Amino acid sequence: MEVRPDDVWLVTYPRSGTTMTCEILWLMMNNLDYEKAAKTHMFHRRHFLEFFTFLHEQTQDLDTYPSLHDFPIGYRLAASAPSPRLVVTHLPLSLLPPKVLDVARVMFVARDPRDVAVSWYHLLRMYKCFDFVGDFKEFWKLFMEDSILFTPFFPRLKETWELRNHPKMLFLFYEDMIKDKPGTLKKISSFCGKQYSQEQLLALADHLSIDVFRQNQSVQSVLETIPGMKNEGGEGFIRKGKSGGWRDYFDEEMRLQAETWIQSNLAGTDITFAF
Ligand code: A3P
Repeated sequence: MEVRPDDVWLVTYPRSGTTMTCEILWLMMNNLDYEKAAKTHMFHRRHFLEFFTFLHEQTQDLDTYPSLHDFPIGYRLAASAPSPRLVVTHLPLSLLPPKVLDVARVMFVARDPRDVAVSWYHLLRMYKCFDFVGDFKEFWKLFMEDSILFTPFFPRLKETWELRNHPKMLFLFYEDMIKDKPGTLKKISSFCGKQYSQEQLLALADHLSIDVFRQNQSVQSVLETIPGMKNEGGEGFIRKGKSGGWRDYFDEEMRLQAETWIQSNLAGTDITFAF
């Protein structure tokens, strides 16, 4: 796929704040047009490169979920979309077109893998196309063993961290983004080449507040629109929106395991997570 100079590519591991970041980037790339954002589902505002190539084989059964097949593959849609494009992917930078960072701007959002795993676990249980059936302890083990969709977690983090000072790269942590939304929005606006008043930034921060965002229909997963796709009892696509919630899911053994796993994977880097 051809990369265009006015593209913004957002690269994340799933459940790292991708949707919130897309909303920010899209609004900044579109003159803070809240009305259009509310009327146009996120699916049509960003180009999710690999959607839906990663869905469970069984779901690709046309008889079960015919509407899934109405969604064209993201990179095909992106190829014919007008500029400026917001391209989103959960693939690592090293699997993207090699010139992406020379030509376009790239943003990466990192999040503590323990919170990512909890959030990813809830999502993979919630939709039938993934249908994870184990408990969180099993999920965490599989996550650390790189056996969950889009793992391994660390290589993409480390390869992007190395490039964090590239003039066309913005590297942020989810934890910092939610702790200081106006400060984060200022950084993203500079990255987008835009200037906003303090009032505009505060209004956008309010728009992103988790209770408001949870009610925002245009940012829900497109999977929600597919009849019968959702399992009972899910916690929702826009869920808690907090940092450190993993503590409620990890027993002492898992906590220690996680610390060792994180430390050994981050050895030799200066990456630290706020929690
Ligand atoms: P939790 O499940 O921990 O709440 P993604 O968009 O990459 O799938 O990331 C989803 C995670 O970001 C979820 O985390 C979700 O609740 C959180 N999130 C989404 N919108 C948010 C917002 N406006 N503010 C804070 N967190 C948000």
